[in-house]
Amino acid sequence: MTAFLEAANISKAFDGVQALDKVSVSIDAGEIHCLVGENGSGKSTLIKIIGGVLKPNTGQLRINGEIFSPARAIDSIRQGIQTIYQDLSLFPNLSVAENISLNQLIERGNRFVSKKNVIRTAEKALKEIGEELDLSEKVENLSMSKRQIVAISRALTQNARLIIMDEPTSAITKAEVDHLFSVIMRLQQKGIATLFVSHKLGEIFEIAENVTIIRDGSKVGDYPAGELDSDRLTYLMTGLKIESTVYERDQQKVAADKLLDIRNLSRSGHYENVNFSVRRGDILGVTGLIGSGRTELALSLFGLNKPDSGEIILDGKPVSINSADEAMKLGIGYLPEDRLLQGLYVEKPIGSNIVVTIVEKLLNRFRLISNKKWKNVESRWIDNLKIKTPSAAMPASSLSGGNQQRVVLAKWLATNLKLFILDGPTIGIDIASKNNIHEIIREFAREGVGIVMISDEIPEVRQQCNRILVMREGRIVAEIEDVPNTSESYIFEQCSQKES
Ligand SMILES: Nc1ncnc2c1ncn2[C@@H]1O[C@H](COP(=O)(O)OP(=O)(O)OP(=O)(O)O)[C@@H](O)[C@H]1O
Ligand SMILES: [Mg+2]
Repeated sequence: MTAFLEAANISKAFDGVQALDKVSVSIDAGEIHCLVGENGSGKSTLIKIIGGVLKPNTGQLRINGEIFSPARAIDSIRQGIQTIYQDLSLFPNLSVAENISLNQLIERGNRFVSKKNVIRTAEKALKEIGEELDLSEKVENLSMSKRQIVAISRALTQNARLIIMDEPTSAITKAEVDHLFSVIMRLQQKGIATLFVSHKLGEIFEIAENVTIIRDGSKVGDYPAGELDSDRLTYLMTGLKIESTVYERDQQKVAADKLLDIRNLSRSGHYENVNFSVRRGDILGVTGLIGSGRTELALSLFGLNKPDSGEIILDGKPVSINSADEAMKLGIGYLPEDRLLQGLYVEKPIGSNIVVTIVEKLLNRFRLISNKKWKNVESRWIDNLKIKTPSAAMPASSLSGGNQQRVVLAKWLATNLKLFILDGPTIGIDIASKNNIHEIIREFAREGVGIVMISDEIPEVRQQCNRILVMREGRIVAEIEDVPNTSESYIFEQCSQKES
């Protein structure tokens, strides 16, 4: 049987970087295939080549055995290859029905696109995957997970045979991931294949039939998922054996006094009557479903979402934090959830992105930045976080997704912080680097920084945090002190229990 899609010996170089070196992958009709590899290993590049967005330097694509050389994305789409990028390429101000239907109607050259037609097309696509959505709702009002359903439905209107998703699960909750997987399985029953990228090993074993592993732009191999387990997969991906240990706060080394004390903090519609404290050396995990108020609370501590009432006490003194500037002056740092929009100046060099938060400190007494100091900071953090780039002068946009996340992290870590709030610090980060980042966070905690780590990944909070708060509907519903003896399933139940 010929494969639906075959990519043979694909190579691609960007100035100075060999992103892919003779990588081959083959996908059958209806197959669920996962592409894995560390940050910067070439996954997105391969996807863009299959999707017709980038041209390979050498190598060939075949569809049902026939050579195919897409010049633009539309050429791939016409062959049934639909790529859903992380931004989903939807029109936020148009309705669900319009987003699902318009591409197809325009592509068919319909000159009169009737409302009825738009609705009918959208209904049909949603029905194919057994989904229901309010067709007249604007896409900007939908959750990430519903937007994905819109993007998948849109793909179906254009006779998709293969749907490619680049890290589809990085911005959705566990329950939404399960839902997405059930949709992928319904696609499979219709003979539609899925190729997806994920850094979460559990997910790979849950759904993928076959796994292609790439490391540094070269293929390591193709494996049936059943023949792999996490240790082996990690080893094949990184060449390393990675062991993780549970974090314990060092009672002796860090003073027991409270660094941060939050009393009865409320903000209407966001969170209510929140009480907790952070000691130096704590890594406090905050978990709960998206929309549970975690991010809103974090933003309040960083001066970006003023509480209506309650107290924030830092180092024993009540403080009022009215802007990010004030928060930074108090020694509070914040790593945002949405790294691309909030944390990074993508057009600016990687080095400037790292140095931007500490520019003040690098100014010498003539208010000039010492070039040597600047270069030192840049190179130290590029080394420390193993940011994969040939030069600090390259724009941040040239980095792979996970490496961009590291730049944002480096930029904060290079300042002197008392309290560091991290919202989803390892979303989209490969397993080896995740481990590095966790180690760096621990190092800061050991030196007395108080860490607040927001994460949906329950295994992550259980392993990395010495205390955990669970938030649900704006309230703290559980406070876990004895983390090693609390099961993941208990924490998960606390997150998702419905109020009776
Ligand atoms: N437009 C570009 N200009 C220069 N280099 C690039 C460009 N796009 C990608 N690269 C480089 O190619 C390599 C592969 O990048 P790619 O985005 O494919 O990685 P990835 O496997 O998707 O990583 P991640 O898991 O972090 O998303 C990286 O070293 C990256 O810096
Ligand atoms: Mg990528």
